[in-house]
Amino acid sequence: MLAEKPSLTITKLTDTIGAEATGVDMRRPLDAETRRALNDAVIDHVVLVIRDQHLTAAEYQAALENFGELMEDQNRRYLADGVPLISVLSNRHKDSQGRPAKQAANASWHTDHTNQERPPKFTSLYPVALPDQGGGTSVCNARAAYEALPDDMRRRIDPMQTANTLISSARAGSDAANPDIVRDQEKAAAARPPMIQPLVRTHPERGTKAIWFHQNKTENIVGMDPEETQAFLTELLEEHVLKPEFIYSHEYRLGDLLLIDNRSALHRAGFDFDHSQHRMLYRGLVRGDKPY
Ligand SMILES: [Fe+2]
Repeated sequence: MLAEKPSLTITKLTDTIGAEATGVDMRRPLDAETRRALNDAVIDHVVLVIRDQHLTAAEYQAALENFGELMEDQNRRYLADGVPLISVLSNRHKDSQGRPAKQAANASWHTDHTNQERPPKFTSLYPVALPDQGGGTSVCNARAAYEALPDDMRRRIDPMQTANTLISSARAGSDAANPDIVRDQEKAAAARPPMIQPLVRTHPERGTKAIWFHQNKTENIVGMDPEETQAFLTELLEEHVLKPEFIYSHEYRLGDLLLIDNRSALHRAGFDFDHSQHRMLYRGLVRGDKPY
């Protein structure tokens, strides 16, 4: 069932989500068959861990280009030196006031950059420094969650659309919001109308459907007020999406190159670690299509 190439081995990590790939060196050019096998594994298993890599930021960017054209992170504050398509996630970043930058927005379940017309199809992460424990990335199979919905719920949410901003007003008012990002948002909001996205997304390569939203970027579901929207999305997550059987929580080892198929997934960062220790990941985004 899985790709059979002498060097590349792909093994499932759980029944419903996650696989790991071994026997491939992403510093080397990949042949078309290997590229296709890895790409298919990300899509089929929603999240793929390619083990045992040894990559500089520039090599990491080149490795990700096997999966498509990369796109800029909309947060331009923390980029890898000289490698502008790779951003740096670190618990040691400071905000413009010199205080530790708040990262809690990544701690809730989401998919990336829903406020953009073409959000990334894949999000990739690669650890550079890890705490002794915790600080992983959890991924939920939102395709399996959609397929398990009761018919009436599926019919109810199928036509729903979300109105997305960089940071919703519900989120901007909370203590966890990064004030720099709130300021950026206030500037951007004046210039741009919200980005309308489907709440249920069709996979452009497979035709499957998945529940797809970023709660902190959702100003409202079209036809609902913001407060009702936040309550509805929380209930949808808690009742139907975040079931243990749909979730894979990845604990990083150095050398893990993680790829998430955002079109079928929600993910969140784990902040369950000793913050006196350094956690730093590189992140790259592979450009996607307009969701429908
Ligand atoms: Fe994310």
